[in-house]
This record gives sequence, C-alpha cells and structure tokens, in this order.
Amino acid sequence: MAYEHKNILDTDQFTKADLDFLVERTREMERLVEQNKAFGILEGKLLASLFFEASTRTRLSFEAAMERLGGRVISTVGFQFSSISKGETLYDTMKMVEAYADIAVIRHPVEGSSRIAAGAVKIPVINAGDGAGQHPTQALLDLYTIISEKGKLDGLTLAFIGDLKYGRTIHSLINLLRHYKVHLYLISPPELSLPESYKKGLEGFPITFEESDDIKKVWECDIAYVTRIQEERFPDHKEYERLKESFKLNKELILASKKETTVLHPLPRVNELSTDVDDLPNAAYFRQAKYGVVSRMTLLCLSLGVKF
Ligand code: NCD
Repeated sequence: MAYEHKNILDTDQFTKADLDFLVERTREMERLVEQNKAFGILEGKLLASLFFEASTRTRLSFEAAMERLGGRVISTVGFQFSSISKGETLYDTMKMVEAYADIAVIRHPVEGSSRIAAGAVKIPVINAGDGAGQHPTQALLDLYTIISEKGKLDGLTLAFIGDLKYGRTIHSLINLLRHYKVHLYLISPPELSLPESYKKGLEGFPITFEESDDIKKVWECDIAYVTRIQEERFPDHKEYERLKESFKLNKELILASKKETTVLHPLPRVNELSTDVDDLPNAAYFRQAKYGVVSRMTLLCLSLGVKF
C-alpha cells in the first residue's frame, strides 16, 4: 500500500485507497489500545502542539494520543503566550519548532496557514483547523465513527445541519464522503449554505446531494451531523444574532425518524442540539470524541513513519 502522506493539510490529498488504509489502521490501533499494547510505539518522539485558536477536544485528544503512545508533548496556546504576539512570523516560529520537535500540530485562524507552516519545515505538520478552511483530522475521525457506528458507508443517507458556510469540519468531511455512494441533505438557512467551491468539488464522484432548509429531512437519514453556527467567523455580528436560533435538533425530532438516525456533532454545541438527545442510544457525539484519540494515534504514527 502506497500511503505516503507525511503532512496532513487538507482532505483533497486523500484517495479512496488512502481512506481504506486509514480505516484499517485505525481499527488495528483500537485493538492495540484495548490490549494495552500501544504504549511505547512513539517513545522518544516529541510533538509540538501549537494552538493559536480555541480548542478543547482537538488539542487534548492529540496530546492524549501522543502520551498514550509513549511520546511527549510541548505546547503553546493562544497568540498572547507566543512570540507571534511580538511580531514574529509563522515562518520563523515554525523554524524554531522544527529545531525542538519531531512533528507539529497547528490550529490557526487564517485559512491556508498550515500549508505555510508545512512549507517552512521538514518535520511533518498536521492541520488541526485553519480558520473557515479545513479540519482534516476531524473528518478522518468522523469517517471512522460513521463506519464504526453503522458498519458501512456506501448506501447511507446523511444530513448536514447547521453552518455549512463557515463550518470547516463539514467542508472536510464532505470532501472525504465524495468517495462513497452516499446521499447528502445539506440543511441550513440559505445564508449559511455550502460554498460553491465545495459543491463543485463533488462533481465526478459517486456522492449525490440536495440542499434544503427543512430539518425534518433527518427523518430520511441514517446520520444527522449537526454543527454550531460559527459565531467567530461572521464579519457582521448582527447577522449571527439574526441566525443563531434558526434551527435546533431535539429528541422529539429524532424519535419521529423513520430510520435509526445516529446523531453526530464535532462539538462544542451551543443552541443547535438539545441536551434531551443525550440519553438516546442514537446520540453518538461523545463516542465520536473518543474515536478521536485512536484516530489521532494512528495519524501520528503514520506521519512519523513509525510502523505498528
Ligand atoms: C470544531 C472546530 O474547531 O472546527 N470543533 C472540533 O474541532 N471538534 C467545530 C466547531 O468549533 O464548531
């Protein structure tokens, strides 16, 4: 198998064969973790965890992944505690990081920043979210979650509900799903619909989609993937205030579904997913967060070229 990705910068870089390989390797990693055999695989390796934007799950799960493999972590959180606040360029910061660590994970508010970071150094760089651009490792863990929960991907119908315009997890996951025979309902207020570039990117692939502003479409879906409205990305805050309550998935809607609709959410949630869904077996978002650790353990090993 010719999986050759050192950097993980966006989801366009993956072929269907890469995805099959990643799913198989993640399953193997899950098995090693269950048998307590994963610790030590990355002993002696150092991860630089560079988070210039808010994060709970992504940062903690990357750091947990590295530590669970016996590697270690150095980190910087937020601009105010890094020399970027003194005017240092991302290029110079990365040159330093390269001197200290074996691999870097970066989250940054500017679209395309992880590519700039990767261009500056020879160590592997993983994009943990670049503004409203992409979040490829979230998409890979989402893909693994769907396959684990449903046992397959081909033939599924999925609803994407929420901020399809600014939601980078959606941009990345849709790009991966285009390799499968799935049908998507893209459900959002018209102001927050999926950008044309992502729709165009689906052409020529087995995926099909339709746009809708009717949340009841979830009744026809195997998966409902909900996201929060990305408040921090709105140029005009009044527009956010106007749209922030425009949809909400709740228990009643899920129980009325004709299918066993599994609910996913990359989290954090704000107004768009009612907590009354949490106690349904369909609520898979906390399991999804857990799959994030084994997914990232797998990606760290592969990017570092360490076999397991
Ligand atoms: C997402 C992100 O940061 O893009 N969260 C995550 O990584 N799990 C989703 C979001 O912030 O809405």
